[in-house]
Amino acid sequence: MTAFPSPAAFPAGFQFGAATSAYQIEGAAAEDGRGPSWWDTFARQPGRTRDASTGDVACDHYHRWEQDLDLMRDLGLQAYRFSIAWPRVLPEGRGRLNPAGLDFYERLVDGLLARGITPYATLYHWDLPQPLADAGGWQVRETAEAFAEYSAHAMRRLGDRVARWATLNEPRCAAFVGHYEDRHAPGGTDLGKTLKAAHHMLLGHGRAVQAMRAERPEASLGIVLDVRPYTAAAPGPEHEVAVRRADGQFNRWFLDAIYKGRYPDDIAADYAAVMPTIEPGDLTLISQPIDQLGINYYTRGNVLHAPDARYPHVAEQRVPGAHYSSIEWEDWPEGLYRMLTRIHRDYAPKAIYVAENGAAENDTVDGDGRCRDEARVNYMAGHLAACARALAEGVPLDAYLAWSLMDNFEWGRGYTQRFGIVHVDYATQRRTPKDSSLAYRDFISAFRK
Ligand code: FCB
Repeated sequence: MTAFPSPAAFPAGFQFGAATSAYQIEGAAAEDGRGPSWWDTFARQPGRTRDASTGDVACDHYHRWEQDLDLMRDLGLQAYRFSIAWPRVLPEGRGRLNPAGLDFYERLVDGLLARGITPYATLYHWDLPQPLADAGGWQVRETAEAFAEYSAHAMRRLGDRVARWATLNEPRCAAFVGHYEDRHAPGGTDLGKTLKAAHHMLLGHGRAVQAMRAERPEASLGIVLDVRPYTAAAPGPEHEVAVRRADGQFNRWFLDAIYKGRYPDDIAADYAAVMPTIEPGDLTLISQPIDQLGINYYTRGNVLHAPDARYPHVAEQRVPGAHYSSIEWEDWPEGLYRMLTRIHRDYAPKAIYVAENGAAENDTVDGDGRCRDEARVNYMAGHLAACARALAEGVPLDAYLAWSLMDNFEWGRGYTQRFGIVHVDYATQRRTPKDSSLAYRDFISAFRK
């Protein structure tokens, strides 16, 4: 068993919490005026989700939110990151506001505050309103504009109570997994369309930051990026090149755009034939100052150069002896430490927080009502220790949010992957805190003393 680090390694004011996203937990897909998103459409296409499931019901959090907030309070969570469903707020994507949409998030935010939990809101966790998808999705610049309008609505209503805003969740994943790897909405395998989607999402981020600043200059604004360190699975210059490319595509493309106002030259050169149109001013907009950066860290990419594979021409290799979770991701806390220190050194965000970190395991509730998720306890302990090491080196890390509060709809993998620190029995919607949540509770309580 890996031990949790000493709570004394974390400064006063540090926050420990958990994260979720709207489509993954809420359910109530057609209630109170919510319009469809492209994930409702995508999940219904045959073969798109492993268990042929959708987020129609998910964890039924839309109806059970109060009980879920009580659970968070009982676990002593200090912060909660949720996402706002754009199709609840603006069922057509722009124009007509559905009042019931923001009402729900207002109740949620007030409920968090009443329980002493700090709300972190994400505006786009992949649920693009279907009418915008029909109008071209992220292939068209207008979607960036629509996103800014929506963000301004959310800020106007909730800006006085939400402590931290993130525009997009993981534009890398939304662009690449959705348009290149064909595993997320809208589906696709075209690199040019992928880069166009990524560029327009980043423009949407930039326009949203402007629009939200205009509403509330003092708001804390940022973005959440997924980051993944790459290592070479064998020595040799071709594998080092493969690592540079994979890292450039995954990490630098987005970090350089946001923090340096340019796309990395080496990767842009590789993409030359499929680069999207970049209009004058785009990268200035994308790189305007933000207040904080959220990073989602799960695992590394351990790769070999694979000339026959599509760009970035890599093949993943398993690390002998390492622990892999049920989603086949390696536990590698060292990678979190490396990404935190590297991002601090190369990009110097004013503040950084871990917006997601966690592991999927085949958890079951035993006859005595306990869920013994020892592998997740180890995962969490190791990654918290990595945070403590980064803090000791001066990284301005100020929060750690576990992915996820509870088991939920894991996108293309449906309900087959359990990432929660709380177990969900989908037949009864019963929540059972897993051992990891209890260890986390004890750790947070010791930290608070
Ligand atoms: C991240 C997503 C999150 C969840 C985890 C496992 O890429 O942001 O919604 O699916 O992976």
